[in-house]
Amino acid sequence: MRIFAAKTSIRNFSMQQKIIILDFGSQTTQLIGRRVRELNTFCEILPYNKFPHDDPSVIGVILSGSPYSVYDPEAFKVDLSQIRGRLPILGICYGAQYMSYTNGGNVEPAGSREYGRANLAYIEKENPLLNDFVPNSQVWMSHGDTITALPQGWRAIASTEDVTYAAYAADSEPIWGVQFHPEVFHSVQGTQLLKNFVVGICGSRQDWSPASFVETTVQELREQVGNDRVILGLSGGVDSSVCAVLLNRAIGDRLTCIFVDHGMLRKNEFRDVMHDYECLGLNVIGVDASEKFLGDLAGVTDPEQKRKIIGRDFVEVFNAEAKKITDAKWLAQGTIYPDRIESLNITGKVIKSHHNVGGLPKEMHLSLCEPLQWLFKDEVRRVGRQLGMPEHLITRHPFPGPGLAVRILGDITREKVRILQDADDIYINALRNYKVRLKGEEARKVLSAGYPKDSFVSESGAQDEGEIEVSLYDQIWQAGTVLLSTVRSVGVMGDERTYEHPVALRAVTSTDAMTADWAHLPYDFMAQVSSDIINKVKGVNRVCYDISSKPPSTIEWE
Ligand code: XMP
Repeated sequence: MRIFAAKTSIRNFSMQQKIIILDFGSQTTQLIGRRVRELNTFCEILPYNKFPHDDPSVIGVILSGSPYSVYDPEAFKVDLSQIRGRLPILGICYGAQYMSYTNGGNVEPAGSREYGRANLAYIEKENPLLNDFVPNSQVWMSHGDTITALPQGWRAIASTEDVTYAAYAADSEPIWGVQFHPEVFHSVQGTQLLKNFVVGICGSRQDWSPASFVETTVQELREQVGNDRVILGLSGGVDSSVCAVLLNRAIGDRLTCIFVDHGMLRKNEFRDVMHDYECLGLNVIGVDASEKFLGDLAGVTDPEQKRKIIGRDFVEVFNAEAKKITDAKWLAQGTIYPDRIESLNITGKVIKSHHNVGGLPKEMHLSLCEPLQWLFKDEVRRVGRQLGMPEHLITRHPFPGPGLAVRILGDITREKVRILQDADDIYINALRNYKVRLKGEEARKVLSAGYPKDSFVSESGAQDEGEIEVSLYDQIWQAGTVLLSTVRSVGVMGDERTYEHPVALRAVTSTDAMTADWAHLPYDFMAQVSSDIINKVKGVNRVCYDISSKPPSTIEWE
């Protein structure tokens, strides 16, 4: 769906220190950004050739990895002459090789691919980049090329058994390079290295925090929006909800939210979410349009056709409500940073289009307001917590705009929606109630995705070594049930033969929904859920588990 609105940027970070990450197309560029943000330092990811030369708030530069080799004719090239000597630069993988190669060093295909865990056998302890590094520190390598000679005046500051120039430094200017990936979890002191660069070398004040974000954003929203009225389409999801609460904090009742029930939400979701919003003091118009949507969908089986009808109806219903708010000047949206990075994608390909907000009539002349546009998902959750929102709203899994419609194969009826809502409710509640204890890498992964920090059960209280208790729900990106209503199979219940539909359970782990793995749920959990669904949900006599990853399968079935 398109938004017919003028785009107006709302933030002004002129006083905010920032690190610039130049993106050469690596899969882990966003991860570098998240790690820097975890150091309470603001950063922006920009295409490799879009350095903001006139921005005085930049305190350091990181060059990312790349799918290319530095000597490929089509490899991305950048002129660093205006940055060098002025700002500290850290090259990661391709970034390190690029700086070495373009300054008289040598880069060649590695004898064998240098991939996986390695240990730093030599470390120049007094180098500020390696401050507090321990002997044999584990790092993660992932490169097909390797530096075989450094430019004159540059030297190795760390090596592994196979990689002589695992990390280097230039003697007379603030340039560093690492051929390993400090941003990935398997580089055990990776965060330390980034901290050494961002804080120790670049001098970050580490003042980027959810609290400071809320304070400055509320202030800026007040200045930008003035006495105008703002409309926001709520979906019940974390992004639009946090956006609403933030705006509410800034302009109170001059924010009007619209929440449309298309009849294919989760069980009791409309009622529960409306209740939550009311408790949060939001000014929400709830529109029950389920008759219209389900009526228009009757008998339609083609997945694309179903999506189109829902999209069209949504725009109609949303617009009809929005038009009633005649003095509105702004349309707020819960767009977050990864959505924008995708649209800045250096390959120019649009990977994912927005499908959360309905198009508004041009004549309304609304300006777009996107206060979360600089945040990663985990930061949105932290901001939500800072705003005092309830945990169950903050940690909600993503849910598709067309709702259960894309999880019911074939045509949609109220009865099929009822069956799926009941099965889904059992599954989601079971995921929430099943607790697991995690430590080490697994624990760090969950914590860095923005899940509750108060779930620590460690005696030691040490964050990195501590054990945490989380629900299965919090460990996975997204879960749901799919009603295979075009399929029937035979079963037996008591003495009766049944001939009913199967339900497929889906649960995936992911960081951005662009790729996903099926979650390895415990067998005892699956056994209980299967038995509960078959015994309690009339119309279902079989439960399957979807073990497909994305790609090639998508998360939703339709
Ligand atoms: P797929 O199925 O493409 O889904 O792997 C990726 C992510 O997007 C969600 N999704 C949607 N969200 N409107 C939405 O707001 C939609 O039409 C839609 N289709 C898929 C999906 O749930 C997953 O998080």
